[in-house]
Amino acid sequence: MDAKTEELRAAHDVLAEFYADRLADALDHMPADRAVLGLFCDLTLAAGLGTDVGDVGCGTGRLEPYLAAKGLSPRGIDLSPEMIRVARRDHPGFGFDVADLRALPFEDASLAGAACWYSLMYLAPSSRPAAFSELARVVKPGGYLATAFKAGDGQVRRGGRSAGLGVEFDVYWLSPDEMRCRATDAGFATVFWAGRPAEGKEGSPQGYLIARRS
Ligand SMILES: C[S@@+](CC[C@H](N)C(=O)[O-])C[C@H]1O[C@@H](n2cnc3c(N)ncnc32)[C@H](O)[C@@H]1O
Repeated sequence: MDAKTEELRAAHDVLAEFYADRLADALDHMPADRAVLGLFCDLTLAAGLGTDVGDVGCGTGRLEPYLAAKGLSPRGIDLSPEMIRVARRDHPGFGFDVADLRALPFEDASLAGAACWYSLMYLAPSSRPAAFSELARVVKPGGYLATAFKAGDGQVRRGGRSAGLGVEFDVYWLSPDEMRCRATDAGFATVFWAGRPAEGKEGSPQGYLIARRS
């Protein structure tokens, strides 16, 4: 594991209980996130490719009940063993595994969809093609990828400090144009994109992208 990935993993191990506490019901207060995830669910189900989806970079597993309530069968993966421990504890009805999104534990073309909810924004530019290729490998043709991310100028910032837990890591405010291009280059066709300004304590605007595997 390279030093940046190790820093990210170690930081998220520290952040796991903080996230579980702060984000457990966050989706209830985020209508835009719910709407985009809901669109992802509707498109995925309408594709008729089954209900298996990956929650890629699942953190504490807070999306699993929402995806399941919409009719999908999510399985979560995350880099951080502590996030996975907390996800298994808080959402015992779902499957969770430790994995890097650049080496997903899913068979080729085995998923009807994959959601990467605020999990692609830690990758340096050089790692992004491999990540999108891996997502393209596991999603069935006709299936969907959905992602939410901090949106901006593509520059790297240091994240994590605001938690006050003594951790920090690189986070990129991703260019929506770049995200669409990355998805296209990997074999996805954009079907929806959107953005919104920062709300509440958010430090950045948010971007959303849904793309269909060609
Ligand atoms: C901001 S949290 C979001 C968690 C969850 N998707 C949610 O919306 O609550 C970002 C998560 O992505 C995970 N992550 C970051 N880089 C990853 C990678 N390369 N592979 C797998 N997970 C990763 C982190 O460990 C962290 O749990």
